[in-house]
Amino acid sequence: MKTVVITGSARGLGFCMSKFFREYDYNVVLSDLKEENLIKAKESLERIDSMGKVEYKVCNVSKLDDIKNLMEFSIEKFDTIDIWINNAGVNQPQKAVWELTESEINTIIDVDLKGTIYGSKVAMEEMKKNHKGAIYNVEGYGSNDAHMLGLNMYGTSKRAVTYFTESLAQEADTENTGVIVGKLSPGIMITNFTTHSLVNDSIELSEKTKKVYNILGDTPETVGKFLVDSMVKNQKNNVKINWLTNSKAFVRFLTAGFNKRDFFRDEPKLLK
Ligand SMILES: NC(=O)c1ccc[n+]([C@@H]2O[C@H](COP(=O)([O-])OP(=O)(O)OC[C@H]3O[C@@H](n4cnc5c(N)ncnc54)[C@H](O)[C@@H]3O)[C@@H](O)[C@H]2O)c1
Repeated sequence: MKTVVITGSARGLGFCMSKFFREYDYNVVLSDLKEENLIKAKESLERIDSMGKVEYKVCNVSKLDDIKNLMEFSIEKFDTIDIWINNAGVNQPQKAVWELTESEINTIIDVDLKGTIYGSKVAMEEMKKNHKGAIYNVEGYGSNDAHMLGLNMYGTSKRAVTYFTESLAQEADTENTGVIVGKLSPGIMITNFTTHSLVNDSIELSEKTKKVYNILGDTPETVGKFLVDSMVKNQKNNVKINWLTNSKAFVRFLTAGFNKRDFFRDEPKLLK
């Protein structure tokens, strides 16, 4: 039986990816900040028919010791880890960088960038002992060098995540670790992240932004299924698994007149 560990998996994309790994009979290790959310997520996953088991561990990705404990726990439960996904992330308050507090700047960098670095470091140290395994890091706005007012720190982190992941893939190859490294690019998903910054400050989306999200956005279920189907098949190092390709975005805009989706009408249900 194969095993996947996903950070930030009590809700959103991380949780949805866990559901689809269950369908592939993987053992799943959930991890997130709050135990009560992990218990609910575990109960919900256990309702899906699967040969795999579900475990959870509280882990704040901005603390290296928490990540080491998550790895130790996962090995104790399942012996080896086949896939490790650095998914935990926070959005930023929609303000220019000079309006952010020191604590806000630190949280964004600590979670979005350092959390990914720590997770990759710990996963690589473990996986290279067995000369196998896969590490995936989640990209986001800024990964492709896009800029927007109010997304400077988030974009800085995600741009760095992209550079870091490509460099890690190269190191993995040069050092003949046997481990593959890749990027997951989820496009736009309507999750708690879209409407809340940092831990729970709500973000007021303009009507124009909602319109764009209704055209380009998807549920984390749709995106999670695509990403998991691609990860379980992938054998290559340094891949980018990309949901919202330029051609898909182009077709979405072309057919926008026929698009009847309204994620924001369904928001309470989607953001549970
Ligand atoms: N939603 C989008 O449109 C979008 C687009 C591109 C990339 N992403 C990225 O996808 C990933 C998942 O986002 P989502 O939309 O599912 O968001 P979400 O807010 O629904 O889920 C993120 C999860 O991470 C957890 N988390 C936050 N800080 C943490 C910490 N310090 N340690 C451990 N867990 C922590 C949260 O508790 C939450 O469960 C993030 O890396 C995000 O940057 C999201």
